[in-house]
Amino acid sequence: MGIQITPSLLNADFANLAAEAARIPGADWLHMDVMDNHFVPNLTLGAPVIEALSRAADQPIDAHLMIADPDRWAPGFAEAGAGSITFHVEAAAAPVRLAREIRAQGARASMALKPATPVDPYADLLPELDMLLVMTVEPGFGGQKFLDLCLPKIRRARELIERSGGEVWLQVDGGVSLETIERCAQAGADTFVAGSAVFGADDPQAMVDALRSAAGS
Ligand code: DX5
Ligand code: ZN
Repeated sequence: MGIQITPSLLNADFANLAAEAARIPGADWLHMDVMDNHFVPNLTLGAPVIEALSRAADQPIDAHLMIADPDRWAPGFAEAGAGSITFHVEAAAAPVRLAREIRAQGARASMALKPATPVDPYADLLPELDMLLVMTVEPGFGGQKFLDLCLPKIRRARELIERSGGEVWLQVDGGVSLETIERCAQAGADTFVAGSAVFGADDPQAMVDALRSAAGS
């Protein structure tokens, strides 16, 4: 798999999600940020919205669960039609069991690390995962500044992924823009979430293309 651009709809028009998705036909996935006001200090949407959008949009849905107790809630997002489900390891009671449940439902299983969460303790979990998300801002809001301090962790994650066979996608999320995407790609990321960069642009699809070429594909 090469470079993938996964726009976040967090800063899109929530009254017109299907129309917003149609503005970015070249996006590989639609990144949907689920927040519960417990794991992060913000509240967004749940499985019913994902279910509706998965019927209305052409692109598959990449659900990013920033919620407490993902062990209970994540499988419901697979039922709702999400093609990829990311839970936070800081919130999961049993990440291996959870990843297996997500896969058993036919979705891709992905695990996220907040900026202060190290990757090394989770190296042995990589074969259970289809994607690892290294957050490059503190989760909760769009439009925050990219944290350069996360770059060494992206490099380390890439090394660990190569060591485990290289199948796992490495996603970055937070402050990804034309200014920062090259750094992320050079550090080894291959899947890029961008919210405000895409939906703040006059032509979101042109920004998806520009991000893709800046990332090197
Ligand atoms: C933040 C979310 C991100 C957010 C990214 O907690 O997980 O997906 O939408 O937005 P930007 O690209 O504006 O940082
Ligand atoms: Zn996200």
